Amino acid sequence: MTSKQTVLVIGSGAREHAIAWALRKSPDVGTIYVTPGHGGLGETATPMVLPDASHIVAFAEETRAVVVIGPEGPLAAGLGDLLAARGVPVVGPSAAAARIESSKVEAKTLMARLQIPTARFRVAESLAEAEDAVGDFPDGVVVKADGLAQGKGVVVADSRGEALSAIAGMMKDHQFGQAGDRVVLEERLDGVEMSFMVLTDGVRYTALPTSRDYKRLRDGDYGPNTGGMGAVAPHPSDSETLHRLISDQIVSPLLTGLADEGRPFRGILYAGLMLTRAGPFVLEWNARLGDPETGVVLPLLKQDLWPYFEGIATGRLPDAPLEAEGVAVGVVMAAPGYPEAVEKGIPLSLPEAPRALFFQAATEMREGVLRNTGGRTLLIVGRGEDVETARACAYADLGRTVFRGARYRRDIGSSFRQGRV
Ligand code: AMP
Ligand code: GLY
Repeated sequence: MTSKQTVLVIGSGAREHAIAWALRKSPDVGTIYVTPGHGGLGETATPMVLPDASHIVAFAEETRAVVVIGPEGPLAAGLGDLLAARGVPVVGPSAAAARIESSKVEAKTLMARLQIPTARFRVAESLAEAEDAVGDFPDGVVVKADGLAQGKGVVVADSRGEALSAIAGMMKDHQFGQAGDRVVLEERLDGVEMSFMVLTDGVRYTALPTSRDYKRLRDGDYGPNTGGMGAVAPHPSDSETLHRLISDQIVSPLLTGLADEGRPFRGILYAGLMLTRAGPFVLEWNARLGDPETGVVLPLLKQDLWPYFEGIATGRLPDAPLEAEGVAVGVVMAAPGYPEAVEKGIPLSLPEAPRALFFQAATEMREGVLRNTGGRTLLIVGRGEDVETARACAYADLGRTVFRGARYRRDIGSSFRQGRV
């Protein structure tokens, strides 16, 4: 008899809760730790405080765990390399491969070389160069800090003035530190966004269901960009033809390109796409699963996720493509005041015997009471045969959740902009 595999998931969001939930269903997975995790993991996984990379490595060696790295920060900092060097199996790419997320300049340059469709762009290394480049994009410009900026380093400018002030914020005021030392300016694209994620061992890959996330705070896609207020899978514009196009023109060339450069990508590769009239264009690459997309994508899988994660870690992805069924709608319940001034410590009461899945992000259990510890607190995921049923399921359980003053969108799954693609 083989013993069950211990897994250590790095991160604390709804994404990591969803990963743990999906792996919990596997007959081959034993104890699941999530570090730092949170107080709402319940029976699914055990939260674990491991203050730094050396503790993570030591704990993984001691428990013989496979490590799944959720967020971009540890990937960019080389946690994957550190673990791999010690012989610890890891789901997550090397820092060199993760550069496609941690440097927008590198990502754009690589895409241009590989002829992967992406918005026309210019790289600027100085304030003067950036200010000059704005004139190259008269129909609308997007200003992007080169490095990681916690999702805040992109400004879709509505005017020349807004573009110039975004550039000044990044390059003169060093709003994002060194991440803004270089910027990418690119043409503004119009269309519908799609998240396309694949699991890959560096050579072979299999796609997860497509999804759409809702980045804006308010109904109808108004208000500031957030970390994501909800998500739907599969994406309503999904089709086999589109899938093939994205695989052939976007995912395969990138994976081959990275492997040819001696930095094969082993992990979860995420293409943030804009579906335009001229076809799909890459807006960004991520070297990890999306949040909140993971919460709607993993619950649709028909197979056990574990052999695929194991295949990433060992370099041998299973042959069978992943299959999915149904539709999932995930709604984020955020704290009052999110995103500007978050109120914390609010007691939460979740419905008994919910039909929806509750993936928690910023929660803690204090003296037997669950409370929020940050902005985006819960991701409530309804599943169904179609988007209406899934939506009804999510909102019904949201209505039975007590969370004083919570902010959430009422239109997740119902506001697909029609006629834009
Ligand atoms: P990124 O982090 O590069 O995905 O950018 C964050 C968000 O900014 C994207 O999800 C889009 O909503 C928007 N965005 C980025 N690039 C463009 C572009 N070239 N045209 C229009 N919107 C964009
Ligand atoms: N939902 C976007 C991201 O995970 O980056």
